[in-house]
Amino acid sequence: MKGIVLSGGSGTRLYPMTRAANKQLLPVYNKPMVYYPLTTLMLAGCREILLVVNPHDEDAYRRLFGDGSQWGLAIDYAVQPKPGGIAEVFLVGRKFIGGDRVGLILGDNLFYGDSLPSVAERGALGSGAVIYAYWVNDPSAYGVIEFDGAERPISIVEKPATPRSHWVVTGLYFYDADVCDIAASTPRSARGELEITDVNAHYLKEGRLTVEKLGRGYAWLDTGTPTSLLRAAQFVETVEDRQGLQIGSPEEVAWRKGFIDDGAFARLIEPIRQSEYGRYLQRLLARS
Ligand code: DAU
Repeated sequence: MKGIVLSGGSGTRLYPMTRAANKQLLPVYNKPMVYYPLTTLMLAGCREILLVVNPHDEDAYRRLFGDGSQWGLAIDYAVQPKPGGIAEVFLVGRKFIGGDRVGLILGDNLFYGDSLPSVAERGALGSGAVIYAYWVNDPSAYGVIEFDGAERPISIVEKPATPRSHWVVTGLYFYDADVCDIAASTPRSARGELEITDVNAHYLKEGRLTVEKLGRGYAWLDTGTPTSLLRAAQFVETVEDRQGLQIGSPEEVAWRKGFIDDGAFARLIEPIRQSEYGRYLQRLLARS
């Protein structure tokens, strides 16, 4: 399964934190933000990953991830020349996608929930487009989905002034290979962007859009403003401290999913055994 992590953007709402550092490289508590969405794709079974990044950030991402083989992944990179909308990933990622189904996750989205792996796997194995809806208090900052009485989606509107529901589109999506042609034929919005909401609305019109609701047992956190970034960090710290288990560790997910064996896991731990993170991974291996 192929997956794309969108890690570009200008991060203007986090200025000046994002003046010299790409938003998705900022820490959420004890890991780079991009670890959380990457591990969500890994849990969905994606092992061929494309990182879409800004031109001047490619080196930093290559230093962070390399070719992904250390985690049993194949990671490749594509540059988005400037932030022109989320659906541009299907133009810069066309060659990577080829004729295959693909997952897309936004590099600033943090998902947490017990059955997330199976829910995401269903999207990966589904047909047409599969997206996820989450109930939020203030929907107007998101793509908003309206459902009919039979729970079928009937409209999706990007950042409406008067939202028709509290169900919003999260940053995890799965598409068939048609998505590249659909994105290429989608006109740009008034703000000059290729909108993911227009792509989803296209699938909806064709009757090929599935919307899975993520109920209140899930956490879906935003990291777009200083306050939401702090809250996401506090959430991760709270859960990790209580359980003694980490959220969003690619080493752990790779090992638990069987992408790497015990020997490869131990070799990853060796150079970082003095760090808190390394000691955590060591405890996992010792207990197995
Ligand atoms: O988080 C979910 C929301 O994400 C959805 O509900 C909306 O429908 C969708 O449009 C999007 O809204 P945002 O306003 O939050 O998108 P934002 O511009 O903040 O970009 C989200 C991520 O994608 C962020 O990590 C930066 C990255 N990005 C964004 C754009 C527009 C890029 O890498 N390149 C881009 O061109």
